[in-house]
Amino acid sequence: MFRNFKTVSRVVFGRGCFDQLGDILAQKRKRPDSPMVFLVDDVFQESRLAGRIPVQVRDLLIWVNVDVEPKTFYVDELTRMIRENYTADRMDHLPEGVIGIGGGSTMDLAKAVSLMLTNPGSSADYQGWDLIRNPAVYHVGIPTLSGTGAEVSRTTVLTGPEKKLGINSDYTVFDQIVLDPELITGAPANQRFYTGMDCYIHCVESLSGTYLNTFSQAYGEKAMDLCREVFLDLVPDSDDKLMMASYCGGMSIAYSQVGICHALSYGLSFVLGLHHGIGNCIAFDYLEEFYPEAVYEFRRMMENHNIELPRNLVTGIENDKLEKMADVALMLEPLWENALGSAWKAVMTRDRIKELFRQM
Ligand SMILES: NC(=O)c1ccc[n+]([C@@H]2O[C@H](COP(=O)([O-])OP(=O)(O)OC[C@H]3O[C@@H](n4cnc5c(N)ncnc54)[C@H](O)[C@@H]3O)[C@@H](O)[C@H]2O)c1
Ligand SMILES: [Fe+2]
Repeated sequence: MFRNFKTVSRVVFGRGCFDQLGDILAQKRKRPDSPMVFLVDDVFQESRLAGRIPVQVRDLLIWVNVDVEPKTFYVDELTRMIRENYTADRMDHLPEGVIGIGGGSTMDLAKAVSLMLTNPGSSADYQGWDLIRNPAVYHVGIPTLSGTGAEVSRTTVLTGPEKKLGINSDYTVFDQIVLDPELITGAPANQRFYTGMDCYIHCVESLSGTYLNTFSQAYGEKAMDLCREVFLDLVPDSDDKLMMASYCGGMSIAYSQVGICHALSYGLSFVLGLHHGIGNCIAFDYLEEFYPEAVYEFRRMMENHNIELPRNLVTGIENDKLEKMADVALMLEPLWENALGSAWKAVMTRDRIKELFRQM
C-alpha cells in the first residue's frame, strides 16, 4: 500500500505576506463577524508584530507560553477556555478558525486545539496514529522559526502523562500556511540554529533511511542544499532559504521517516524537558557511527555559528530516568526501522540505547 497523504491546501510565501492574513481570513468567515482565535507565542507580546495581527471584535487573541513544549493538559485547558467563551456567546458554539503564530510549539498548539474543539475527551486520548474521528476547525500556521517542518506535517507533537507522541492524522494538517521570511529575522541566533538543525537532521535521516523513495529524496536533497547554503555558505537571503528548507524537509519526511537522532531526542526531551531542536543537536553529535559524513558537516556548521552544546546532561542520571528515556525512544519503532531496517531489534538493543544516552 502506498501512503495517500494529505498536504496543506493553501500556501502564501514572501516577505511581508503576513499582511495578507486579514484578507485570507475574511474569505473564511461565514459572516463578517464570525470569530477567529489567534494563538500567539507570548515572546511577541511587546513586538511590532502584535499590532499587525488582524484581530476583529469577536476574535480571541491568546498569548501562549512555550517555555516548556506543548503538553496535553495545556491543549485541554486552552480548548476548554475557547469553548466556554463561545458557548456563552449565543451566536456561535465554536470559532470559525484557529491561527497559530510562532515556532513549532505554537503551531502544534494551534493544530491540537483546532482538533480538540471538534473531538471529545482529552488530547492525550488521541496521541498516536489516526485516532481522530472528526475534522478540525479551519486552522492556519504561521512560522516565526524555521526548521521543524510543523507547518507541513500531519502531526502535532504533545507531551502527555505517559508519553511524548504526536496526534498524527489527516485532519491535523493545516488548511493554510503563511510563510513570511521576515517573521524569523529577529529570532535569537542559538535558537535559529537549533531549529534549523532540526531540518538538517530531518534530511540526513530521511535521505539515509530505508523508507526513502524518489518523492522524499527530491524534497530532502533540495532541503539539504538550502541548509548548506544557510549554515555553511552563509548566503545573504538566508531567512527565505531556511523557510523553504523547513518546508521541503517536512515534505521529505512526510513520505519517509526520521531516524535514530529523533528517537533519542524524544527520550531526552521527555525526561530532561529539553526543546526539540537542542535535544536533536545534543543527540546527533554522538551519532558519528551511524551518520559519519553528516555529523562532521554538522560540527562545521556549529563552528561557523559559534555554538557550544551543553554536555554531560545524562552522565550520572538516576537509573529510573535512564530507563524512561530508553522506553520513550524504543516506543518509536518506525524511526528505528527506517534507520536500521526491519531487523533493527538485533542491532539496537535497550542496552545499546542506554549506552548512547550515557555519553550525552
Ligand atoms: N509537528 C511537527 O511536525 C513537529 C516537528 C518537529 C518539531 N515539532 C515541535 O516543535 C517544537 C520546537 O519548535 P521550534 O524549534 O520551532 O521552537 P519553539 O516553538 O519551541 O520555540 C523555541 C523558543 O523560541 C521562541 N521564539 C519563537 N519564534 C521566535 C522569534 N521569531 N523571535 C524570538 N523568539 C522566538 C519561543 O518563544 C521559544 O522560547 C517542539 O515542541 C517539537 O516537539 C513539531
Ligand atoms: Fe524534528
